[in-house]
Amino acid sequence: MAILKIARMGHPVLLRKAEPVADPTAPEIHRLVADMFETMVDANGAGLAAPQVHVPLRVVVFQAPADRSDSLTEEERHDHTAPLTVLINPEIEILGPEREAGWEGCLSVPGLRGLVERFAHIRYRGVDHEGHAIDRIARGFHARVVQHECDHLDGFLYPQRMSDLKQLIFESEARHWAKD
Ligand code: NI
Repeated sequence: MAILKIARMGHPVLLRKAEPVADPTAPEIHRLVADMFETMVDANGAGLAAPQVHVPLRVVVFQAPADRSDSLTEEERHDHTAPLTVLINPEIEILGPEREAGWEGCLSVPGLRGLVERFAHIRYRGVDHEGHAIDRIARGFHARVVQHECDHLDGFLYPQRMSDLKQLIFESEARHWAKD
């Protein structure tokens, strides 16, 4: 395993449409996924897409931990959380028009935060690197991280999804925006 170099905003690999993976169970995909997990954990990210490590393939890894949705009941929490997940050749289906604003960061846009509206309720499908089908409903932060990571596969970074660039800020100034 290896910690990979992360491409930063401005690198052309982040603007390309990534290619589908022909064989998700191939040894080189296993290696890529292992390296992406290690890189994501090292960088303290919630998700990572292959183009961010200079590999233009449709592979993302992410997690939506329960501590992001503390205020929810046990039942509500189901769609709001996801274990460490590998998603290859993903497809997203929007399940309703409702959108939610939330603060996002990105390992390719270090030091910044932006308030981004995302669809609140989605379904996503794909396969993992063992060839298992993935088919999940997602809400809240879970829906947000999947939309953010899958956007990377189509060449979009979160600032390009923002409606008001006044809400693109440095992390160090986030305290001015904290809700209480
Ligand atoms: Ni990102």
